[in-house]
Amino acid sequence: MREVSIEKRKRAHLDLCADRDVEHRAKTTLFEEVELVHDALTELDLGGVDTSVEFLGKQLRAPFLITGMTGGTSEAAAVNRDLAALAEKHGIGFGVGSQRAMLRRPELEETYRVRGVAPTTLLLANLGLNQAAKLATAKIEAMVAAIGADALCVHLNPAQELVQREGDRSFAGGIEGLRRLVAELSIPLIAKETGCGISAVVGRRLEEIGVRAVDVSGAGGTSWVRVEQLRGDERSRALGETFRDWGIPTAASLLQLRDTSLARIASGGIRNPLEAAKALALGAEICGFALPVFRAYRRGGVKAADEFLGGMIEGLRVALVLTNSPDVERLRRCPVVLGPRLARWAETEKGTRS
Ligand code: FNR
Repeated sequence: MREVSIEKRKRAHLDLCADRDVEHRAKTTLFEEVELVHDALTELDLGGVDTSVEFLGKQLRAPFLITGMTGGTSEAAAVNRDLAALAEKHGIGFGVGSQRAMLRRPELEETYRVRGVAPTTLLLANLGLNQAAKLATAKIEAMVAAIGADALCVHLNPAQELVQREGDRSFAGGIEGLRRLVAELSIPLIAKETGCGISAVVGRRLEEIGVRAVDVSGAGGTSWVRVEQLRGDERSRALGETFRDWGIPTAASLLQLRDTSLARIASGGIRNPLEAAKALALGAEICGFALPVFRAYRRGGVKAADEFLGGMIEGLRVALVLTNSPDVERLRRCPVVLGPRLARWAETEKGTRS
């Protein structure tokens, strides 16, 4: 009966994310504490700036990614197909949601398959660390190959699990699991948080075991503690109330990882192109978003999601011109001015190094 409950849970997650207040309450991403320096003498042409980047060996026309959300139900199949087709159209990346349901019921594989509509897109597979650590590498390799993905996101979500009524309570074996998968998988592995961020200490641990890329998925956007609070029993509701704002703000997480060799996806609360430009200037290679594109899609279908993505790309072009950055690489090297709350996170990072 566990399989049925995964599908029910996936449906509830989509409905809650569409309609309810599921973001952090008081905590923000801290992108409001990042200023890019205006260049009044820019000589760039809006149509001439170059938004393309290479990520994990694939060429993207803009440094964006629709991060993993769903799979396993009929609505999920439509969401994955429609959003992946838009990712292909705009030349950005796309991630499917956790493939756990498909591992238990292979007939659900179809709900994750998007290669028919997104033949060239950077496509990311997805599985939770607790599952990944227990499965044979060959089984995971087959799960990734079944959808033709280019890389695997292993999601880290201890806060969500602990608050979720039916979630995991123990996290032993995760590091060893990651070490084995990095060594044995034929495709790259991305360690991905789900809205609580990755610290400098965790970044170094990941580097040590051979992980090359992370999705910081920091705090300030969707709060999975909050989602579980909304669908939970009394225990989940009480814990959710206390821990809704748990996590490292997205901008702080990027600063914490600045001196690592990890390729960084910035996500968690990125809602407009200026926040994306700031994330790139804090060292991210590409930026991801989930909730805003899903909400646009639920509200106005493919057209609204298309407009959201088009607006993100157009706004990034404006930020490139205004910082006198002919391309994304130049934006990544732009000076930034940090506010005091964010600067404290940078100092904390230094403190952990000494
Ligand atoms: C998610 N997210 C997510 N992450 C993951 O690794 N596996 C998953 O199955 C899901 N499922 C999921 C469903 C829905 C409806 C949303 C909105 C999000 C987390 C997502 O990829 C991202 O890390 C966070 O939501 C933070 O980004 P936003 O939403 O603040 O832009």
